[in-house]
Amino acid sequence: MDDLAIPSLAELRRRRSAKWRTFPDDVLPLPVAEMDFPLAEPIARALREAVDRSDTGYAAPTRDLADAVSGYARRTWDWKIDTDGVRTVADVGIGIVEVLRRVTGPGDRVVISPPVYEPFAWWVREVGAQVVEAPLAEGPRGWRLDLEALERAFADRATAYLLCNPHNPVGLVHPREDLVALAGLADRYGVHVLSDEIHAPLVLPGAEFVPFLEVSDAARRRGFSFLSASKGWNLAGLKAAVVVTADPAPRRYVDRLPAHSLYRTGHLGVIATVAAFDEGDRWLAGALGILDHNRRLLGELLAESLPEARYGPPQAGFLAWIDLRALGWGDDPAAHILDAARVALNAGHRYGSAGAGFARLNFGCSPQTLTEAVARIAAIR
Ligand SMILES: Cc1ncc(COP(=O)(O)O)c(C=O)c1O
Repeated sequence: MDDLAIPSLAELRRRRSAKWRTFPDDVLPLPVAEMDFPLAEPIARALREAVDRSDTGYAAPTRDLADAVSGYARRTWDWKIDTDGVRTVADVGIGIVEVLRRVTGPGDRVVISPPVYEPFAWWVREVGAQVVEAPLAEGPRGWRLDLEALERAFADRATAYLLCNPHNPVGLVHPREDLVALAGLADRYGVHVLSDEIHAPLVLPGAEFVPFLEVSDAARRRGFSFLSASKGWNLAGLKAAVVVTADPAPRRYVDRLPAHSLYRTGHLGVIATVAAFDEGDRWLAGALGILDHNRRLLGELLAESLPEARYGPPQAGFLAWIDLRALGWGDDPAAHILDAARVALNAGHRYGSAGAGFARLNFGCSPQTLTEAVARIAAIR
């Protein structure tokens, strides 16, 4: 598909985003969660038209974003979102922090399940709450929520739980029965569940995304869902996301967000997000095809040239969680790989202490870049 032809490395290096400006040119950058695909044409067109109109003011108080999100959710997941329960925020991080500010008080206990996206812990600390860990369980069939650990944490005076659905960095798409059980526990112990669903559009063939607010009345009573087009269509720099509620109890907290928070959202972000959710299906299907190919290719490359590495293909997204402990590169193999192989990965220990000896690799790149990255790493073995 031409509209998914990944630019050459020389062209990518002309980008000004974090992925391309953090490391010197001899480094292959595979950390920051941005993809290398060109922008989907309907999004590029909407942005170009906005620039041509000099339409770069504030986001408008319209329903366009809520309508686009709910249209996409219904088409894609058969999830019927009541648009009265959709609130615009600048990004998922800000949305979660603002809701946490309203549901927690100083020193309250907020549970997370490492290994998990590092800012989860930052967001909890940012609002003056305490991080409590209920790590994921790793079984013979992959990662799962540890419902017993969650029950212990909830029973021990937890106020809120940050659910990563799908779960970055292990690429776990939570099965419905786990979400039903989680919602039941949250309801029993009076715990708010903030479900970060930013990776939901990127669920890969073989798995099915289950929106947390869909699973039960208990989930709706306790839950907040955070959605954005920023991972699926690579719009992270444009700043637009939503928080969704489906029950008056959580909605009361969201209603306390200041009215002016809308003006902190990127107007171009709203324009791009509406285009993504309304007209981005075809581009996304193509991108998912390439990601599906890359997750398998990565497995083959590792098996061939770095057989000590342990890796299970993710069910969603473009992030691979790789166990490098058998290579003897210590707790932070990403540091060694950056120095010796000139490939930048994320350090696993930053996702919680169980991540020591692991690294996270972004395969939202061309198969050629992925092949070269693994070859460079294999060469230092
Ligand atoms: C699970 C998860 N949540 C949130 C974010 C960041 O989202 P935002 O830029 O909308 O805050 C990321 C980015 O990679 C992520 O992986």
